[in-house]
Amino acid sequence: MAFAFELPFMPQQASSYAEKVDNLFLFLVGLTIFFTVSIALCEIFFAIKYRRRHKNEVPKPIEGSMKLELLWTIIPFCIAMGIFVWGTSVYFSLYHVPDQTMDIYVTGKQWMWRFQHPEGQREINELHVPVGRRVKLTMATEDVIHAFFVPDFRIKSDVPPGRYTTAWFEATKPGRYRLFCAEYCGTNHSRMIGWIDVMDPADYEAWLSGGAAEGSLADSGQKLFQQLACITCHKTDGSGRGPVLEGLYGKPVTLDNGQTVTVDDTYIRESILDSNAKIVNGYQRPSIMPTFKGLVNEEQLLQLIAYIKSIGPQQQGAGGAAPRGATQTPASPGTTQSNPVAPARRSPQQ
Ligand code: CUA
Repeated sequence: MAFAFELPFMPQQASSYAEKVDNLFLFLVGLTIFFTVSIALCEIFFAIKYRRRHKNEVPKPIEGSMKLELLWTIIPFCIAMGIFVWGTSVYFSLYHVPDQTMDIYVTGKQWMWRFQHPEGQREINELHVPVGRRVKLTMATEDVIHAFFVPDFRIKSDVPPGRYTTAWFEATKPGRYRLFCAEYCGTNHSRMIGWIDVMDPADYEAWLSGGAAEGSLADSGQKLFQQLACITCHKTDGSGRGPVLEGLYGKPVTLDNGQTVTVDDTYIRESILDSNAKIVNGYQRPSIMPTFKGLVNEEQLLQLIAYIKSIGPQQQGAGGAAPRGATQTPASPGTTQSNPVAPARRSPQQ
């Protein structure tokens, strides 16, 4: 059931969950108004009804009332629990990223928003998406905390440093929608704004093919992988000094402390920036891999991750060509002593 009216002070509803958020919000506003007005009216009524009539009046003592006590405990309890359950269900539908999404990579930077499409298109302060498709955002920041805020979509998500934040939306009508940064991030925070362009699928395809893509995200990642000499140690055939990365994405790996972690975006990012944070069982500590902190920016990290994802588990039926699993055989001890090749050079992209 769609809202039959658009409130003048509310942003329009342009995403699939905007209505859910608004319904809850309006309920809370209505509830607040109801109780504020009721309590105010009661106060006025009682103030008049029980006003002091004589100078020496002594009020009758009041005994407690079990009935009343129960009533004003149980009713608010039910209301509060109702809001809790309702709020939780809305929260989950917002924060649980559904399947079959179109992935967009977002980087916040003082003071701009950068977007990367998996096909290779890059944008600054403007994001083109098709209408009616679920869009998953994987967000990172180069510097301080930012917040991705599109009021018309009812999406607002902090982007704190040091990790990936995911969010999603599905735009329901074509148009241009304001994007803001909703976390004070320095001098030009108020100018860290942009647009989300929601297009018809056909227009979007045309836009995609018209854009000057520099190869897909994974292609860029592969180039970087070679430039940074990652390939020297992470060899496909397992003869390198680092774990084989083929087929690794999404798989569990056992660490040297016995813990098991899943190879996801956050794990890969951390391993690139701080190779000692988690070491795969069988590899030496401290890690022989140098840190790439300062050598790769958040966008390049996303490209590297896209590449590792692209060489991740392949579809069934790959037969003998199936990539190696996550269970790595460590390189022979003798080869782990020397220092690995240092990153070749800075990427030309920055
Ligand atoms: Cu970025 Cu405020």
